Amino acid sequence: MSNDISQEKYEKLKEEINFHNYRYHVLDQPVISDAQFDKLLVALREIETLHPEWITSDSPTQRAGIIPLSKFEKVEHPLPVLSLANAFDWEGVIAWRDRLLRINPAVANAQFVVEPKIDGLTVVLHYQNGMFVKGATRGNGEVGEDITSNIRTIRSIPLRIPVGGKNIHVPDYLVVRGEVFITLSDFDSLNKKIIENGEKAYLNPRNTAAGSLRQLDPAITAKRPLRLYAYNILTSSGEVPKTQWKVLEYLKLLGFSVSEYSERCEDIQKVLKLSEIWQTRRDKIDFEVDGIVIKIDDLELDKNLGIVGKDPRGSIALKFPAREEVTKLVDIGVNVGRTGVITPYAILEPVEIGGVVVRQATLHNFDYIFEKDIRIGDRIFVKRAGDVIPYVIGPVIDARDGSEKPFVIPEYCPACGSHIEQMSGEVAWYCMNAACPAQLVRNLEYFVSRSAMDIVGMGVKIVEQLVEEKLLGDVADIYHLTMDSLINLEGFGKKKAENLLEAIENSKQRPLNRLITALGINGVGEVMASELAKKYTNLDELSCASMDELLTIDGIGPNIANQIVEWFNQERNKQILSKLKEVGVWPQITKSEKTIEKDMPLEGKVFVVTGTLERFSRTEIKEVIESLGGKTSSSVSKNTDFILVGESPGSKFDKARELGIKILNEEEFIKMTNLS
Ligand code: IVH
Repeated sequence: MSNDISQEKYEKLKEEINFHNYRYHVLDQPVISDAQFDKLLVALREIETLHPEWITSDSPTQRAGIIPLSKFEKVEHPLPVLSLANAFDWEGVIAWRDRLLRINPAVANAQFVVEPKIDGLTVVLHYQNGMFVKGATRGNGEVGEDITSNIRTIRSIPLRIPVGGKNIHVPDYLVVRGEVFITLSDFDSLNKKIIENGEKAYLNPRNTAAGSLRQLDPAITAKRPLRLYAYNILTSSGEVPKTQWKVLEYLKLLGFSVSEYSERCEDIQKVLKLSEIWQTRRDKIDFEVDGIVIKIDDLELDKNLGIVGKDPRGSIALKFPAREEVTKLVDIGVNVGRTGVITPYAILEPVEIGGVVVRQATLHNFDYIFEKDIRIGDRIFVKRAGDVIPYVIGPVIDARDGSEKPFVIPEYCPACGSHIEQMSGEVAWYCMNAACPAQLVRNLEYFVSRSAMDIVGMGVKIVEQLVEEKLLGDVADIYHLTMDSLINLEGFGKKKAENLLEAIENSKQRPLNRLITALGINGVGEVMASELAKKYTNLDELSCASMDELLTIDGIGPNIANQIVEWFNQERNKQILSKLKEVGVWPQITKSEKTIEKDMPLEGKVFVVTGTLERFSRTEIKEVIESLGGKTSSSVSKNTDFILVGESPGSKFDKARELGIKILNEEEFIKMTNLS
């Protein structure tokens, strides 16, 4: 960098960084990529090295982090919540170690702990006499926001430590630091649900986690799949482990989740090997990492090395190259979903992002295109993280040459040519033609899927082929397929046709809950379908159910009740049902099944399960309880009869105790039900 940089330029750069900090941390609406932000910060640091006399307290380098939001109470942290210095390549790590060696030669023999740098949000958790009493965001490192009620809703944060009454010493006062995040798979399912409901999809896991933590209503936070990995003890009134590795082990023992990918390395060469493993590992794991954190294991040595600004010298973040690239938006296409939702996607000039060639990326919804002012022909930022569909971050406005064309929402469905419409109060646009072939394909795909009718061998390619050949006009037509209709199709031989027909025949035996799921009623997934199958004996009964009656069922609100009633009222669906009945796809819950239930040992008892059980998965325990006549509920209320408690129970355990509900451990449950 040249020495003649002007102070005016420096001020501008500071302002720019502060602006991006605010967009990112306060508004959760970043306009530049993390990599670009890092570059700005590096440039600022370089200027400050040349002109330390210019540095003022408002420089982003003096205050790494965020401005507390005014809507929450402020919390003064007991000790500064520090940040990390960055290295962008291995040379940077070696330079860091060399600096440390000059400060303290003992570093030569130091061991390291390498942890994933989770792309989430720091939280600070206060425990008094083992009870969780306060939770705060990092804020500016000195003062954060009190988000205790929101934190309480996160299942992986213990409300009491040690979890499970283990005999481990816990200091009277303990403050733990960790990162709240959303896994990529949870994020994906959340967005699928949201899009199906015609709402606006979330942008990315990190921003969703940030927004969720800062909700004023904890009930909203509770609905988001937030998790925590703990990695640090900020302060404590008593003895705590003396190495980072032991801190992680201790936190795990207390009942916190600790990343299984944290590893101890006996020397810097091992750290190098591990950092190479991380280059591919980062794509395989279910949460976003933006780097690895390399920490001196010996905490005494770490303390001794001191702090520069807000960064402890003893740790460094080795940032991964961003999984973000700029490419040309060649066109915008639209997809039609199962419920007719039309979603736009970007057709890209192929671009390699971290070893994978990306040709398409999601644009979430039409509003998103206009909000970000994305135009066809633009150069755009595209991000790819793990297996999540790549998405468009936004355009590079400066790269425009005037040839870019604003996107116009199509008037007609690309698959069937019907008018598309926006439902009032929703972001999504819909193809209103229930017979639209694209919707039909998605519907059939869902009908035959594993959690529904489970017709093995009927993948999407075959579904598309059968729709194209006009052999399937609705889901009931599956049961009219014959050897004659299949045998001459391209790719079909006798054996393949026989197998498919056999799988179709077998699917007639699926129980009622599976068929209800398969119908694909908006808002009725597997869980809801099971609830409905408990109350109704067959689809005739369910189709006559009134709104009022449906509203008495656990978990059904006015929205879903209305969707169910509407679905059964539609002429086209009535026809499908009568066709299904005709071909014998009409499961019944028999009288005898109901009578047997009467003799069940758990008849009428409501169970809530919390924590991890040894013998049963969540689905299994639910099935066991229900098969013995009991019911399971996800929340504790005065109607709960028993709480079944496993390892690391959540807040339900505390609530159950408060309400004086009978507590069972797994062994007691097994005895009570004679399962052993
Ligand atoms: S250690 C003194 N470890 O990265 C302790 N930070 O860029 C300093 N982060 O603000 C932090 N994973 O929010 C640490 N395993 C990890 C982390 C981690 C994610 C975040 C943290 C911090 C930011 C610094």
